[in-house]
Amino acid sequence: MSNQKPHLSTLAVHAGEERYLAERATQVPVFLSAAFGYETVEEWLETALGHQPGHIYSRNTNPTVAAFEEKVRQLEGAEAATSFASGMAAISNTLWTLLKPGDRVVSIKDTYGGTNKLFIEFLPRYQIEVALCDTNDPAAVEAALQQGCRVLYLETPTNPTLKVVDIARLAAAAHKVGAVVVVDNTVGTPINQTPISLGADIVVHSATKFLGGHADALGGVACGDDELIEQIYHYREINGAVLDPMSAYLLLRGMKTLDLRIQRQNDSALKIAQFLESQPAVEQVNYPGLASSPYHTIAKAQMHGGYGGMLSFALKGGFEQVKKFLSMLQYAHLAANLGAVETVAGPPATTSHVEETPAERAAMGIPEGLVRYSVGIESVTDLIDDLSQALKQL
Ligand SMILES: Cc1ncc(COP(=O)(O)O)c(C=O)c1O
Repeated sequence: MSNQKPHLSTLAVHAGEERYLAERATQVPVFLSAAFGYETVEEWLETALGHQPGHIYSRNTNPTVAAFEEKVRQLEGAEAATSFASGMAAISNTLWTLLKPGDRVVSIKDTYGGTNKLFIEFLPRYQIEVALCDTNDPAAVEAALQQGCRVLYLETPTNPTLKVVDIARLAAAAHKVGAVVVVDNTVGTPINQTPISLGADIVVHSATKFLGGHADALGGVACGDDELIEQIYHYREINGAVLDPMSAYLLLRGMKTLDLRIQRQNDSALKIAQFLESQPAVEQVNYPGLASSPYHTIAKAQMHGGYGGMLSFALKGGFEQVKKFLSMLQYAHLAANLGAVETVAGPPATTSHVEETPAERAAMGIPEGLVRYSVGIESVTDLIDDLSQALKQL
């Protein structure tokens, strides 16, 4: 066996699996067992006390779930990982673990709608102050950090406007004031960026999206150093927002093709963004891979591999045109999801920011006339032909 660190594509296929391949299976079995039995109380106690490896009860740990966590841990280059029933469970459990009344969170205006709801509705109920800064103004984030901060929470690229924030710069500023840095890497994926290598303390994912890739299982994960993840794991085992073994199996299987899928989606998204830029019916295209994007320079510096499989664009004529356009697409599911092998499209009002009111979306700078387009693994020629025929009919 070589001592070289394996490439991401190899980790996506093999990482985390070997230990769980019982009975010479080549695939990790689905351990559908609520609890794990012991022949003696002594042995049971040794496991419960963490003196020997093993599982007690599936709200705490489960072998299929552990294999999933280990694969993500290795891909993100983290010391530890713990998983959840959904991406929102990963985000909320992480925040509830780290925060207490009187603490302050600094974040950006453009986070996923569910995360934004935590910031504007739920955290303030517990006397936790949240400062939301303009996403494209790193100096404003730095100034907000100076007023005190327990958690700096970032998402990059953002959903659905694909803004990119400078993780290394903001993580350094946050660490100076003793804050913990959390980054949502759902849209980027570890194939394109590894926030921990840029200074993040914790990476969270909606595994429902690109990690799983097949839109058939919900899941979430948080990765980071041993100490922080142990605290988050401890909160989760009591909170109970646990990933079920069947979903863990589906996510594990999906992740084997993560590198292949993301490479295809990166390439196709760039070609589609370039095509859309040339279309008279399109007002604006958001994609950090475009040379014209205001985020291209920072994206190029911190993303490797590519710029991700999701883009968004505004149509001239606003929401009325968006409704007409979406119904004419042949190869896109109109659905509230992203990151699947199938192309998925929709407006923010029914997808990423369904939880927000139109006024809240406006305050976040999310136009109603936007189309979020998550590129699948179909032929890019077919997708461009499809977009072209729909645009021509407007
Ligand atoms: C960037 C981002 N983070 C978190 C979430 C929440 O994930 P889940 O739907 O798995 O709870 C989503 C969902 O769309 C998302 O897009």
